[in-house]
Amino acid sequence: MAENPAYPVGLRLTGRRVVVVGGGQVAQRRLPALIAAGADIHLVSPEATPSVEAMADAGEITWHRRRYEDGDLAEAWYALIATSDTEANTAASAEAERHRVWCVRSDNADAATAWTPATGRSEGVTVAVLTTDAQGRDPRHTAAIRDAVVEGLRDGSLVAPHHRKRTPGVALVGGGPGDPDLITVRGRRLLAEADVVIADRLGPRDLLAELPPHVEVIDAAKIPYGRYMAQEAINHALIEHAKAGKSVVRLKGGDPFVFGRGMEEAQALVEAGIPYTVVPGISSSISVPGAAGIPVTHRGVAHEFTVVSGHVAPDDERSLVDWAALAKLRGTLVVLMGVDKIGKIADTLVAHGKPADTPVALVQEGTTAAQRRVDATLATVAETVRTHEVKPPAVIVIGEVVKVSDGSAPGGAE
Ligand SMILES: C[S@@+](CC[C@H](N)C(=O)[O-])C[C@H]1O[C@@H](n2cnc3c(N)ncnc32)[C@H](O)[C@@H]1O
Repeated sequence: MAENPAYPVGLRLTGRRVVVVGGGQVAQRRLPALIAAGADIHLVSPEATPSVEAMADAGEITWHRRRYEDGDLAEAWYALIATSDTEANTAASAEAERHRVWCVRSDNADAATAWTPATGRSEGVTVAVLTTDAQGRDPRHTAAIRDAVVEGLRDGSLVAPHHRKRTPGVALVGGGPGDPDLITVRGRRLLAEADVVIADRLGPRDLLAELPPHVEVIDAAKIPYGRYMAQEAINHALIEHAKAGKSVVRLKGGDPFVFGRGMEEAQALVEAGIPYTVVPGISSSISVPGAAGIPVTHRGVAHEFTVVSGHVAPDDERSLVDWAALAKLRGTLVVLMGVDKIGKIADTLVAHGKPADTPVALVQEGTTAAQRRVDATLATVAETVRTHEVKPPAVIVIGEVVKVSDGSAPGGAE
């Protein structure tokens, strides 16, 4: 006879007694969700893994350091039986049956009265996956389905159109340095929910190709200025689309607040009464050196790193950077937007005392398929940029960390 399928249910365990018998790996995996559910958890076990022990030390569970005894389940609402002793498991599940306590058994799904589904969460929804019968139970299969559903909800590839939570107004989303995998989960979800995306030239442009056809994608660089400055025109476009009731994503390279003019856009939105949210992104200032094998700090080498914009030359009166002070720092200097001015920047640093043989690395189009790294010193960098035709976007790293490597193949530098 075919087995009846299990009946799925969500237990509300706040303050309710849950007994866990056995303090090994199974308990370690299951306990965090029981703790999160607010259960009054009693662990019965002579031993426990260090993680389970830490939960007891933190007062998250009550640990009875002994073997299971008949009567342990009497007051429980729910039990998890997971010792390595089949006899104890059988005795405990018999007691659970007697007291009508729903009981999960790690060693014998057939003998259990409840099964733990593979669960995951996304946006206020719990996804729980169960197989229909004990014979067909394959935890890897249910976990894989759970992962696919949760991942699909998070990245927007699985859209529940009638229930999708639209974020009104504008989301200023940091898209990371370029590799489409390096955007945050939240950023990707908001992108999938957007009606309009206004994107910069930098950042994960590959993601734009994945957007459904109804999404209007606008290249920020191509918004006509007319009577505005370029940035004002972008602000205007954000405001107008949001006012029209659209869900707007402003997709930026790296992090919106690292040389990203994110706060200018936020200010304009506030002024126009448009709600906005900011989603941080992985900044190129750290991730691009990292992708090229350069740590911006390293024990015994650099205890600080400074991120500087090189878009105006040191002798330009608009420059807000104290290059003389930077020349005296021992740590790492990360220069963004500095390819065109690197000759003047290097000369200024050397003139203020930074050794001319200080290592320099230029990482162009980091984290993308076109990534390249070119190494130089302060003395040679201007010439190197010319001969190797280094082009923006590039992150320039100045300091001894450039010489640090993981010890495998000689770095990827040209
Ligand atoms: C206007 S700034 C924006 C920085 C961005 N908000 C961030 O947090 O990474 C642009 C500069 O970032 C650097 N940059 C951004 N993405 C890059 C990448 N994938 N490879 C190399 N440099 C990058 C370059 O120096 C470029 O000129």
